[in-house]
Amino acid sequence: MRSLKVLLAAVLLVAVAMPVHAKVRSVGSGDRMNFDPSQIPADMKGAFEVMKVKCIQCHTQERTVIAIQTGIAPVTGQPFDKQATKAYGVKMLRKPKSNMNREEVKQVVNLMNYLLDEAAKP
Ligand code: HEC
Repeated sequence: MRSLKVLLAAVLLVAVAMPVHAKVRSVGSGDRMNFDPSQIPADMKGAFEVMKVKCIQCHTQERTVIAIQTGIAPVTGQPFDKQATKAYGVKMLRKPKSNMNREEVKQVVNLMNYLLDEAAKP
């Protein structure tokens, strides 16, 4: 019984310590940086898997994480909003050896738009 109380207290503490506002969290740093997978909703896990494989063929995921967290595309300094996710999706798709198809890019753009919404929440 006592251990149950301790457990409950621990669970409560963790719940209270969690940030109240939604922000896009990342794990790792530099070349190993990625989105924290725990914030990806179940129906977007597939898209996240596609992103994890297809979007790191030419550069690391850090580029995409920074773009979404800051709202600024890190290479060109352009705003990274929903118009940009689509435009970049198409741009990345058209690059030689992109090794992606339209459907995969659509999924990733959809995921980036979701993350942008999360990043914009107060
Ligand atoms: C075929 C190689 C290639 C693939 C695959 C690729 N990228 Fe890129 N990406 C680049 C290059 C090269 C740049 C440098 C800037 C440019 O050409 O637009 C870049 C730049 C970026 C930027 C920064 C743009 C800026 O203006 O600062 C983002 C964000 C990005 N890529 C996201 C992605 C995402 C998301 C995917 C997967 C859907 C992806 N990339 C797949 C080659 C690639």
